[in-house]
Amino acid sequence: MNLSQRFSRFITLSVIFAGLTISPSSLKSQTTDTILKPDKTENQNPDIEQRISDIINELSLEEKVAMCHAQSKFSIPGVDRLGIPELWMSDGPHGVRGEINWDNWGYAGWTNDSITAFPALTCLAATFNPDLSRAYGTSIGEEARYRKKDVLLAPGVNIYRTPLNGRNFEYMGEDPYLASVMVVPYIQGVQQNGVAACVKHYVLNNQELWRDHINVEVSDRALYEIYLPAFKAAVQEGEVWSVMGSYNKYRDQYCSHHERLNKILKTDWQFDGALITDWGSAHDTREAALFGLDIEMGTGTDGLTKTKKNAYDNYYLAYPFLELLKSGEIDRKFLDDKVRRILRLMFRTSMNPNRDFGRMNNQEHLDVARNIGREGIVLLKNNEAFFPLDPKTNVTIAVIGENATRAMTVGGGSSELKAKKEISPLEGLKELYAQATILHAKGYSSGPPSYARVLPPEEDQDELKKEAIAIAVQADIVLFIGGLNKNHQQDCEGGDRKGYGLPFRQNKLIDDILKVNNHVGVILVGGNAVAMPWLPRVKAVIQAWYLGSEAGHALADVVSGQVSPSGKLPISFPIKLTDNAAHAFGELSYPGDSINQYYKEDILVGYRWHDTRKIKPMFAFGHGLSYTTFEITDVKTDKKKYEAGEVIQITYQLFNSGTTAGAEVVQVYIGKINSKVDRALKELRGFKKTMLSPGKNYQGTISIDVNSLAYYDEQLSEWNLEKGSYWVYVGNASDHITAKVRITID
Ligand code: BGC
Repeated sequence: MNLSQRFSRFITLSVIFAGLTISPSSLKSQTTDTILKPDKTENQNPDIEQRISDIINELSLEEKVAMCHAQSKFSIPGVDRLGIPELWMSDGPHGVRGEINWDNWGYAGWTNDSITAFPALTCLAATFNPDLSRAYGTSIGEEARYRKKDVLLAPGVNIYRTPLNGRNFEYMGEDPYLASVMVVPYIQGVQQNGVAACVKHYVLNNQELWRDHINVEVSDRALYEIYLPAFKAAVQEGEVWSVMGSYNKYRDQYCSHHERLNKILKTDWQFDGALITDWGSAHDTREAALFGLDIEMGTGTDGLTKTKKNAYDNYYLAYPFLELLKSGEIDRKFLDDKVRRILRLMFRTSMNPNRDFGRMNNQEHLDVARNIGREGIVLLKNNEAFFPLDPKTNVTIAVIGENATRAMTVGGGSSELKAKKEISPLEGLKELYAQATILHAKGYSSGPPSYARVLPPEEDQDELKKEAIAIAVQADIVLFIGGLNKNHQQDCEGGDRKGYGLPFRQNKLIDDILKVNNHVGVILVGGNAVAMPWLPRVKAVIQAWYLGSEAGHALADVVSGQVSPSGKLPISFPIKLTDNAAHAFGELSYPGDSINQYYKEDILVGYRWHDTRKIKPMFAFGHGLSYTTFEITDVKTDKKKYEAGEVIQITYQLFNSGTTAGAEVVQVYIGKINSKVDRALKELRGFKKTMLSPGKNYQGTISIDVNSLAYYDEQLSEWNLEKGSYWVYVGNASDHITAKVRITID
């Protein structure tokens, strides 16, 4: 079956599925006990499990139900008469969010809640460095602990499907393998502090537009191969203690209390922690009770209650749940399973007497933020060795663009931060380029920070442009620092971008600058790919993401060559929007018809689409230049024939043939030759980043499990390892493969 046949088959199936109306009584009969499992896993401490059983025996029905829903915006109650503490949560994922009021979204105005802002997760993914992910998790976990948080609502691993998604900057890119490798150490780092990570948003929350109701139809194959793997890794390898359900629907059921999804999570993957709603993503008491939702947060109470006082009591998992339990309509074992999981979460966090006190705003955390920034920044283009700019230079540099000075830890929605400090790009450059003359002009204005609405800029845009052109004329070099920001319809929760182009007339501004100065390097701040019509005419382009507290320092480190860039794109940059797979299939694929949407590109997300359909991207997944040069040679596999369960060992020589130190990411992709099913030409299966001095050689090995080459077989509802020949591709970008080895699976 080809892709479109498979797609129409799954539409038919989902139509049949959608045709089934689920009545409360059928809900009950459909439910199996398996959703309640596991009761015991190797990670559990039998003594604690016994204590949990004892507590469950002690608790009244009302006390148990109270633990299953919020008591404030970010906490659930404990049981005061038994000395069981409350459980406190906070966003995530780039730092610990400022204190929010008990009952509303306003900031509480505390003066002790400023923190270290770490780079956005797209930047972390671009480092291709799992050690930095561990350092990130450890540091943010320490800050969460110091702020007395028990659950950090992070990290996010929804797959980058379209460059328009307002929340891509909070996620780890378009590749399930990369996201899986990077998410695990983040979780382990956070949790070693006795703070739970809460991996989000499970699952298929790949756009913000209509996120609270859009019904996603996707094939099982794409679900298992593309959208679930990072969550699975978080559960099985990261042993995450909590998971957040998403807002959207999948096959006509809300994801936070989704029978099928939560069976996958709790039964198939043996997740033993607590499933928490996204804020306001519960919609039905019976489904929540029976289909594995443990904690309900953030439900709007309009229409449920007249007074604020008892609002929380009217949550789906509050009084309505209590009543169904009392009447016997819902078996109490479902409640006990939830309470067991919540208590387990508490024993791991708020009731863990061995956890440290945490720390925040120390130099070490700033160093971690800076290192992630400088390893994540991606040099996309560099003609005539435009970068690095010698820090001793005495030339005149015109720094143009709003993002040279705009605070980027502010805005974006729930990931917004109250950073203790944020070094802007302009400050970072000024500190380093002491002998140069640095001129600055804003060039354009995007309006003040705002959420869920767009506020017009106050400045006269023509005036701003005039100032910019005036300094561009005088300067030897122009650094244009623009891109997106964290306002509504940029990189921000609750809305998607309106188009692929750079906003706020930046393209026109760059064109006009190029008319008066042709030494222009563009630095793009943002979490998404953008169109670059001026690309052939600028000398260089840097993708700088959102870099947090140390933004300006990290950027100056790379611009000046104090550090050679080593970031690689965790996303593809298409030339135009319709070159992106989700957009190639029209509106029903993205954004949907406001009720349903169909992931018509199926498994061909990101580079899988560009490669397989031979649609050249502007910049490919895995691409990223360096100030030095590397050669990858001597690529070999340990054998030519493998069997299921074996490991493929790929060895190579990496040589730094340039004149400066730098790091390179060797990437291994594998593709089936003549597959009996539709497959991507190649898929990332392994990578390794290595730092090398000039003239040095490194003998590297990358190991890949043969079983990981299986595809998800919809006929068998199982993974299927196809026999036959495969290409092993080795290179330093998905579009820059330097060696190919043929192997066979028997
Ligand atoms: C977001 C979550 C966030 C929660 C609490 C929701 O709107 O989708 O990611 O953790 O709010 O702030």
